[in-house]
Amino acid sequence: METLEYPVKTREMHNHHFDSTAWNDFKFRDDDIIIGSYAKSGTTWTQQIVCQLLFNGEEHHNVGALSPWLDLRVPPTPVKLEMLEAQQHRRFVKTHLPVDALVYSPKAKYLYVVRDGRDVVWSHYNHHANANENYYAALNGPGLVGPPIEPPTDDIVEYYREWLEKDGFPLWSQFENVKSWWDIRDLPNLKLLHYNNLKKDMPGEIRKLAEFLEIPINEDKWDAIIEHCSFDYMKNHAEDSAPLQGAMWKGGAQTFIHKGTNGRWRDVLSEDDSKRYEDMAYERLGEECARWLLTGEM
Ligand code: A3P
Repeated sequence: METLEYPVKTREMHNHHFDSTAWNDFKFRDDDIIIGSYAKSGTTWTQQIVCQLLFNGEEHHNVGALSPWLDLRVPPTPVKLEMLEAQQHRRFVKTHLPVDALVYSPKAKYLYVVRDGRDVVWSHYNHHANANENYYAALNGPGLVGPPIEPPTDDIVEYYREWLEKDGFPLWSQFENVKSWWDIRDLPNLKLLHYNNLKKDMPGEIRKLAEFLEIPINEDKWDAIIEHCSFDYMKNHAEDSAPLQGAMWKGGAQTFIHKGTNGRWRDVLSEDDSKRYEDMAYERLGEECARWLLTGEM
């Protein structure tokens, strides 16, 4: 019988956001769910879906609090680990790490969601440009490794170009992140998701996701689950799902759950600027992975 090869951590990542060592002390349980993405790709949406499946469509579970971003430097790792250790329900934890900086456990089930980088940048620009003093105090505060994160330029095209040319700046590399997960797509405990597909057929995607996670769906609660995962519901109840109830942004949680649409760059980027992303995706990811990232098609 062929033995499966699970990835092994080969490096740590530290920057204004990351402390990848947080995973080194995490005690996995057999039914843990880990939700990964590069950033701004539908992570919170996926967390909300998982939360709704686990809690039978009940309202007002605070997803941001229940499902912390473990590799974020704040709140301190011991606080998050203790909180997760105390949870009695099936746990679902968020990460933005590439696979080689994570501890990948055969015990857990992993979901990894992607979105076209141009949509990611448009989403992140709103996130970054509306960051408040709590954001800068937390990310640039004690324990910072490397340069601090600075407020962004007021020109979104310039922001996009810098992201592309500096491989993810001021965050981390999207191509490296996506490729690391794509490369392990055949593992039985990983399911890849795409923002476009969630937009196109959320109910269908939720059913597949529930099957993968082995969560039986209570059909009496199905309509509630779908409603609570819709953009309008999440926008109107943004404090229930946004990280730290939106404390890091001017305008609060509703700034984080922003527009929920793709393609806002289409009328802003020149043909050349836009194509540069596609060309780089093909160059860095190879044909199949690039096509998936750009379209959602496998
Ligand atoms: P926009 O900024 O483009 O609106 P993440 O959780 O990975 O940071 O991603 C945040 C993005 O997901 C934001 O995109 C947010 O609005 C969007 N989002 C959150 N919930 C959503 C939903 N139910 N439907 C569509 N998009 C959603």
